[in-house]
Formats: sequence, C-alpha cells, structure tokens
Amino acid sequence: MSEIEERKLEERTTKAEKEVKAIEDELEKISNGDLSYTKDPQLEKLLSENEKLKHRLAVLENAVKAESLSSQGKSNMKVQNSDVIVKKVSKKRPTLITDINSVEGNICILDELKNVFEVAIVSAYPDLEDPPVVITLSGNNPKFGDYQCNSAMAISQLLKAKNVKTNPREVANNILNKSPTSPIIERIEVAGAGFLNIFINKKLTEHVLNCILRFGIKPPPVKRERIIVDFSSPNVAKEMHVGHLRSTIIGDSISRILEFLNHDVLRINHLGDWGTQFGMLIAHLQDEFPDYKTHSPPISDLQAFYKESKKRFDSDEEFKKRAYGCVVKLQSGQPDYIAAWKLICDVSRLEFRKVYERLNIKLIDRGESFYHELMKVVVKELKEKGFLEEDEGRLIMWGDPVKRDGIPLTIVKSDGGYTYDTSDMATITQRVKEEKGDRFIYVTDAGQNTHFVTIEACARRAGILKDGQKIENVVFGVVLGEDKKKFKTRSGDTIKLIALLDEGLKRALDKLIEKGRDKVLTPEELKLAQEAVAYGCIKYADLSHNRVNDYIFSFDKMLDDKGNTAVYLLYALTRIRSIARTAQVSLDTLLAEVEKTGITLSHDTELKLAKVLLRFPEVILKVSNDLYVHSLCEYLYEISSSFTEFYDKCYCVEKDKDGKIVNIFYNRLMLCEVTARIMEKSFEFLGIKTVSKM
Ligand code: ARG
Repeated sequence: MSEIEERKLEERTTKAEKEVKAIEDELEKISNGDLSYTKDPQLEKLLSENEKLKHRLAVLENAVKAESLSSQGKSNMKVQNSDVIVKKVSKKRPTLITDINSVEGNICILDELKNVFEVAIVSAYPDLEDPPVVITLSGNNPKFGDYQCNSAMAISQLLKAKNVKTNPREVANNILNKSPTSPIIERIEVAGAGFLNIFINKKLTEHVLNCILRFGIKPPPVKRERIIVDFSSPNVAKEMHVGHLRSTIIGDSISRILEFLNHDVLRINHLGDWGTQFGMLIAHLQDEFPDYKTHSPPISDLQAFYKESKKRFDSDEEFKKRAYGCVVKLQSGQPDYIAAWKLICDVSRLEFRKVYERLNIKLIDRGESFYHELMKVVVKELKEKGFLEEDEGRLIMWGDPVKRDGIPLTIVKSDGGYTYDTSDMATITQRVKEEKGDRFIYVTDAGQNTHFVTIEACARRAGILKDGQKIENVVFGVVLGEDKKKFKTRSGDTIKLIALLDEGLKRALDKLIEKGRDKVLTPEELKLAQEAVAYGCIKYADLSHNRVNDYIFSFDKMLDDKGNTAVYLLYALTRIRSIARTAQVSLDTLLAEVEKTGITLSHDTELKLAKVLLRFPEVILKVSNDLYVHSLCEYLYEISSSFTEFYDKCYCVEKDKDGKIVNIFYNRLMLCEVTARIMEKSFEFLGIKTVSKM
C-alpha cells in the first residue's frame, strides 16, 4: 500500500470513527433522558430515529472494524518486508553465546542479536525505561552488513525528551562501545545517520552449515504449547467450496510448522454437522428412502439431495412442519433420528475425505454436534451468572454490556434453539477447560472475523478466557476467478472441489508433456511429478499470497515455470539434487568429507547463499507467531534466487572437453546439500510433495 493510500485509509477510518462517536453521543442523550429530547411531543418519531441510528452505528462500526482489519493485514506485510523486530527489554540480563562450539544448527541469529544489543543498550543507557531494541535485515547491499540495529534514532528522541543533548550517531557510537563481544558477530560499523551495521561471522556461518550437514535440520527451541487449530470445517450436506479449500491449505501448513516446533497440536475439523437443516434432510430421507434403517441409501450427490429438500421446505408448509418436528426429535436424541442424522453425516464425510486424501491432510473430525450437551451447560451458566439479556424473545449476550458496540451474540433463539454463536461459546469452553489449550487458532474467511471478535469478548467477560489467552482468527480473503468475480463455473454454479483438483491434474500433465518430460521420465515418475505439480501449485498459489487479500485462482499463473511459483521452485530443487547425482558423489561420501574438512566458504555468492540459509529458524519462528505463511514462500524463493546466483558463478564439478570429471568441489556440493535440505523442509511445511525427478 502506498503512503497516500495509507493516509487515505486512516482519514476514512477516523472520519467513520468520528461519525460513530457523534451518533453515540446522540444516543446517550436519548437514553439518559436528556430533557430537550424527552420533552419533545414527537417521542414516537425520535424512537424510530433512535432505531435507525442504532442500525447506522452498527454498519459504521463494522466498516471501521473491516478497515482496521485490512489495514492490520497490510501493515503486517510492511513489517515483514523490512523485517523490523522491536524487542522489549527484559527484566533479566539475557545469557549470551560465548563459544561458537556451543552453537547448534538451529540457532536463531536474530534472537541472539536482539540479546546482544539489549545488553549493549541497557549498559549504555541504564536510566532509560524500555529503550527499544530494533534489529532489521540489512537488505541487498553487502556494504551495509547482514543485519542492522536501528535503535539509535529512537533512543536519541527519548533522550531529547529528557533534555539530554545528543544525536543518533553519538548514540550509535555509545551502543557500539558497550557491545559485548559475541562470536556470532564479525564486526559492527556505525553508518549514515546512526545505523549500526552488523556483519555475521563467517566462522559461525560455516559452523551452522556443518551442524545441519551432520545432524540434519532441527527445530529452534521454544516453550512447548498445546495449540488447537480449527480449520477446513465444511458443512455437512452442503458444498465444500473454495473458501474451505483455502482454510484447509492454510490450516494444514500452520499446523505443520507448529508441529515441527514440537508443539502439541490438535487439528480439528469443526464440521457444521448440527442444526436445523437436518430437520428437512431427515424428513426428505424418510420419504425418499423409507427403508434407510435397513438399507443404506444410495445418495451419490448429497448436494442435490440438500437442494431437493430445501426446495420442498421452502414451498411445502406440511413438509416444513414435519421438518421442524424432526429437529426436535433429533435434538432430544430419538434413536431413529440420530441414525438418520449419522447416515447423512457419513455420506458427507466420505466426500470430504476424498479431498483430504488427495491433498494429504490429516484432521480430527469433531463437528458442532460434539458440543451439543455442553451447549446446554454453558447456556445455563451464562443465564445464572446474569450475562444474558432478553431481546424480542431471544437471549443475547454483549461482549461489553456498557458500550454495547458491534453485534451481540444470540445465545438462545426465540424458539428455544441454539445458534452458531452458542456452539462456538461451548467450543471455546471445551478447548480451554478440557483440552487445556494455550493457543486457540481458527482459520476462516475474513467475513467471520466479527463473529470471533465477539466470541472472544464474551468468553473473556464470562471468565472462560483468562488474561493472556486469546482467540487467533487466521482470516483470509475471497477466491476470485480470472475475471476478478467470485469463483464460479461458466454456468454460475459453485465449483466442485474434486472437479477442480481433477482439472489441476490434467493441466499439470499437459504442462509436463509440453516440456517433453514424458520422454525422459518413466510412467511412475511422470505420475508422481504430475501429482506433485498439480496439488503443489494449488497449495503454493494460495500460501504465497498474503492471506488477508483476495486472490485470483488461475491455473495458467500457478503452472508458470517462471517467477515465484511451485513449478519453478520444484524444478529448482530437482536441479540442485541432480548436481551431486551427475558428479556421482553419494551422500555418504559427502558426509565423510564433512567429517574430514567441514565446509569452508570463500566466494561471495557462496557466503551470500549461506547467510540466507542461516535465516531458516528465524523465518519459521516468525511464521509460528504471526501465522502469515507467505513469508516462508518468499524465503523459499529467495533461497532459489541466491542459489541461481551462486551456481552461475561457481563450478561444483569441473569437466574436461570430453565431459570427463576432472575436479569436484566438495565444499560446494555441501552447500548444495544444505540448500536442498532447507528447501525440502520448507516444501514439507507447505504440504507440498517434492520429487527427485521431473
Ligand atoms: N463451518 C463453518 C463454515 O463453513 C466454519 C467453522 C469455523 N470454526 C468454528 N469454530 N466456528 O463457515
């Protein structure tokens, strides 16, 4: 987003906020019984005005929320681009690394730099409260080092506020003088207006690569947490649409990353498997397949079945009445009705499984029905504790009963039934109390964000969520077709996911044949490559975009073999893997060389690539915190670009005129090996299968 756009957005938000405030003031006057209002004889008119204002208020507030949500997502992106990390100074002096040999392959350089500069800043300015420790990546010019500490500007401002005369350059020099020696830093230079350029030690770089070669890729150590990831979550008997596909792909990738960090991850498929729609489905089932209890009904197209029953429900009063009756019987647990409901769910689940199997997604089915009993308990408790209010026959709950902003939850409908809100209140209760979760992640389209904001507020108000516990709604934008309109088939129907995956397979095969791969690969290899490309490109296209934005689904773009696409990266990886193969150096031989000499880096491009590889733990930790997976994709692309640069400049194997190998640069083959391992791990986190040939 440009600065102008940003300013405009800010202005619009402030304007909307002001309007809301003005209306709120008006409303307060009215509800406080301001005399000038109540004395007015046309009280009726005012009351209706009040209603309209309330409505307008809700609309505006939603607009403000949506604005701040999207700007949040966008400003997050900004943070990622410059990789600014601000660290609050901790109470305890951090323990610093003093010996390179104590460093392992999983070291997060950025975290260590933050510690080093925290120590330097605190000792240079012991009287400053909360001085910011700002470390960023330096960007492309090697002149500016690998990382930068940009704290000097902010600290100079803080000092000025205390009437201390200074300037950023002086502050930077003071910080430099107080910097403890660290084996990870080669040197620090003060530059420009007060930047501290940090150069990472080459010995450390080589040491880390040796560790990765000898021991493999290890997760950086973090405190183990119990994390519940609610994703995919389609609705029984309804279409599993592209929105669910996004949730599935993003949720799976997030889970994989958290699992790698050794967290205790519970992957939950919160199926929409409970609710009033089952009344009409069961009534229709009874008519269409009267012997459903003894003969499993051959429902091949549950969506069509849903549509038929919906049509009857909307047009036939008699049927509607019966459907309502079915709901009551189902909810009271009558065996025949439970059996019918199970049947319908099973048909649906089978359909969903097909998608999960193809995409290699593991999930525990635990839908809304799982919380059925708990809903009653939660409702009772909320009622007893006085959190619920009556509103035209419904029981509602506000997140903030004083402000009453946004939309309240509907906990009990006027007919006594429960809602999506009720089920999510029960769900969060179960996840906190029984699952003992530390983090609660929900991957849904951005349209549901207001719902989760309210659920969080109400759960906090009810004491279900404690301080420090929050709901993390991982939101994503809408999938658009190439015409930038909602993704639909030509005839306007929603696109069936299986059909979409089939088309991906077909297009992937076309692409491979176009490149003549069918002539060099065996049929088995070709099939593996086809699947890797098809599902890989669909996943990568989704994950490589900032998820808060809408994204355009285009097979042509995702199958492009240039640019930041799965096809390009998978090719890059197979090429790297083929280097050692062509040199006929086995992994054992290579590792024996590692034991003998270890890796040494000399050429600029070797060092540059190595330093990119060093950032792997940093990237993973960042994604595990902010849950924006596209930074991992950007990183993957950066690796492959740095690799190309290196490979253009450096021979790994030297051959004579006849093609005979005359010299093997083991160092460089080692660098290839680490590159391939980190790329493979990254692909694994994205849920993308790699192939040795394609
Ligand atoms: N079934 C919902 C839908 O299709 C998504 C459920 C998300 N999870 C939750 N706990 N509400 O939109």
